[in-house]
Amino acid sequence: MMLPLPVRSLRLRRLACLFFPAAMLSLTTVRAADSVQYPTDFRRWVHVTTGVVIPGVNPQLATEEGIHHVFANPKAVEGYASGDFADGSVIVYELRESAPKNGSMSEGNRRRVDVMIKDSSAYAGTGGWRFERFWGDDQSQDALHDTGTSCFQCHAKAKAHGFIFSQLK
Ligand code: HEC
Repeated sequence: MMLPLPVRSLRLRRLACLFFPAAMLSLTTVRAADSVQYPTDFRRWVHVTTGVVIPGVNPQLATEEGIHHVFANPKAVEGYASGDFADGSVIVYELRESAPKNGSMSEGNRRRVDVMIKDSSAYAGTGGWRFERFWGDDQSQDALHDTGTSCFQCHAKAKAHGFIFSQLK
């Protein structure tokens, strides 16, 4: 079946972005466009920590219900000890559904992937970090429309450790 025209052309434009000039553009241009950056291989990075928010207990934590893991790329791993994270550090907070069964609890579907990417000159207004949010298994749509200010307001509490809450111990 033919797709309606606007959807088709949008898809084509996305395809063009994928296969075409990204590699040729300078970093600055890519940044200016704030192209979505999904860290596809984060599950193979260093695991920093895991937390469980039990469903139905604390309404204030409803958005975080399930099992979450934090992963750090090699550059970010180096920053954990001092809290001084070099440009190029990427840290992921992955939230999965919790699937209880016969007294055990395992990971269910992916609910969300939150990403922080360090680039101190491009994102000086948010502590040098770019914030991104992806729902479920979607890797193409950054759900944030406020350039991360809402995220940063809370992450500012972790200023003493480079705006990163988790610890690698
Ligand atoms: C109300 C506070 C709050 C808000 C708002 C918030 N975070 Fe966090 N975030 C945390 C806490 C607390 C942790 C540590 C979780 C843990 O260690 O189990 C965390 C962890 C993270 C991590 C892993 C690195 C770290 O700091 O440990 C990333 C990446 C992250 N958040 C991204 C985001 C993004 C993207 C947004 C906005 C869409 C956001 N956060 C909004 C509190 C917040």
